[in-house]
Amino acid sequence: MTNVNLKDYLNEKKSLVEKGLDTLTPAADKPPARLNQAMRYSLLAGGKRLRPILVLAAAEAVGASCLPLLPFACAMECIHTYSLIHDDLPAMDDDDLRRGLPTCHKQFDEATAILAGDGLLTLAFQLATSPMEGVTASTQLTAIHYLARDAGIFGMVGGQMFDLLAEGRQVELAELQNIHIHKTGALIRCATVCGAMLAGGTPDQVHHLNRYGEAIGIAFQIVDDILDEIGDTSQLGKTAGSDRRKQKSTYTQLMGISRARQEAQNYVDEALHALADFPSSADPLRELARYILSRSQ
Ligand code: IPE
Ligand code: IPE
Ligand code: MG
Ligand code: MG
Ligand code: MG
Repeated sequence: MTNVNLKDYLNEKKSLVEKGLDTLTPAADKPPARLNQAMRYSLLAGGKRLRPILVLAAAEAVGASCLPLLPFACAMECIHTYSLIHDDLPAMDDDDLRRGLPTCHKQFDEATAILAGDGLLTLAFQLATSPMEGVTASTQLTAIHYLARDAGIFGMVGGQMFDLLAEGRQVELAELQNIHIHKTGALIRCATVCGAMLAGGTPDQVHHLNRYGEAIGIAFQIVDDILDEIGDTSQLGKTAGSDRRKQKSTYTQLMGISRARQEAQNYVDEALHALADFPSSADPLRELARYILSRSQ
């Protein structure tokens, strides 16, 4: 245990991120108003803001101020929100509820939801390429390269395809790990790696935060699988039981709740181990790793 009050830390960073998102996204009355409204609807609907908070916490872990990284952190949240909008489409997971509200295609329509996703994805790169105080152009370019890689076919988008291809059939652990590493782990790892790198972390620190991000990323999706099975729709803000209905390949389906929880615990232990050489500036990351296991939404 550390001296960090995670609840206060999350609230503080969440409000920073949400102010950033509000100002960096086109106003709802600006044309094309319907598209801007749909983007803002999904983006500002709440959510844990885990990925942008990880960018900021990784910067602080290497001893830097997190403020210059806010546009990059917001870019990560735009990519994540786009992935949720598209994930919920009838052609994908076909879900009606997200972040406690009707999904984007339910509230607007499918075409608008597709475009809102496209808009958020490209807005993310506009934000990630905006000037950042104290960051050299070459470091920023490397971070943007990682962002494109981890959000795209070598990361999240590839993982979403693996996920769809595994619907309705029994997979083995190695294949399931591969799905989770790509669809969820890649973007989470990208958040900690880019946060540390943009903040001037040493190659050694970036390496450790790569391991940390990779491990909490898989743990995060395992817990998502568990919550889908045992969680509560109103608390989750998305419909529990959706994976079973879609015959998804999940950790709970493969090994049951208690073994899945143990797997997640093992990854969290691995993540904490990766932080062993960091001082107390990494305490928020330590608490975040524990929170991933204990969360109920
Ligand atoms: C949901 O992500 C999709 C997964 C990758 C598991 P989150 O659980 O981070 O969703 P929000 O951002 O809090 O709504
Ligand atoms: C989604 O995984 C991962 C993404 C890249 C969006 P899920 O399909 O399990 O996410 P939820 O449960 O709908 O949030
Ligand atoms: Mg999905
Ligand atoms: Mg889904
Ligand atoms: Mg899920």
